[in-house]
Amino acid sequence: MKINENTLLEGHRAVLVPYNEEHVPRYHEWMKSPELQQLTASEPLSLQQEYDMQKSWREDNDKCTFIILDKQRWAEPSVEEEQCMVGDVNIFLTDPTDPSLAELEVMIAESSYRGRGFGKEVTRMMMCYGITKLGVKTFQAKIGLDNQVSISMFKKLQFQEVSVCNVFKEVTLELAVDESVRTKLQEDVADMKERDYKQTCSNKHELVLQ
Ligand SMILES: CC(C)(COP(=O)(O)OP(=O)(O)OC[C@H]1O[C@@H](n2cnc3c(N)ncnc32)[C@H](O)[C@@H]1OP(=O)(O)O)[C@@H](O)C(=O)NCCC(=O)NCCS
Repeated sequence: MKINENTLLEGHRAVLVPYNEEHVPRYHEWMKSPELQQLTASEPLSLQQEYDMQKSWREDNDKCTFIILDKQRWAEPSVEEEQCMVGDVNIFLTDPTDPSLAELEVMIAESSYRGRGFGKEVTRMMMCYGITKLGVKTFQAKIGLDNQVSISMFKKLQFQEVSVCNVFKEVTLELAVDESVRTKLQEDVADMKERDYKQTCSNKHELVLQ
């Protein structure tokens, strides 16, 4: 969707930026990994298909995506944005009759960045964005039964198991957004800042570094 085409979300470790054409080559490299294909239940795509996919994430009203960047690295003016890419986080509005239901997907593609708090931080940031900007009231995550790290992360974020599909070897976790969830999330991402992406690209000194 176009709502976030010039939005930057600033967290502690990560900044989230809209998925642009310039990110596609690195994204395509990531998705050649059999491990990531398996963990994210994705099929390998050609480079052209990946460009088409980027366009569809931008144009289609049921999809919202951000690329996750290492904030510390991105703040250095000499480092290319592509070199700061860590992964992506997406919301997919799966039910045309209920736009308040969202499937959440997160991928920390760079293995050296896993287990450092990026996944939890960006998931919370995306949930906050989904609730406040897209009107999401229920989040779902569909995760491979073998992916214990991801299952554990979503459970830490208060998601509950609602079903298991043995055919697809996948569990569905869900979180209904009530007042207490909303309040806790807002506390957890209290420092998150929403900025103008293009302006911040030329004013990186405005970022709050640790
Ligand atoms: C799953 C994933 C998003 C988690 O992100 P991450 O940045 O590695 O995780 P974080 O450091 O934020 O940790 C979040 C939680 O995950 C769990 N976790 C992280 N690393 C773990 C490990 N090595 N073993 C077990 N649990 C782990 C913990 O519950 C942790 O919470 P805690 O820090 O409060 O204990 C990330 O590892 C990833 O993208 N992996 C590859 C692709 C993938 O599996 N995507 C999900 C598809 S559904």
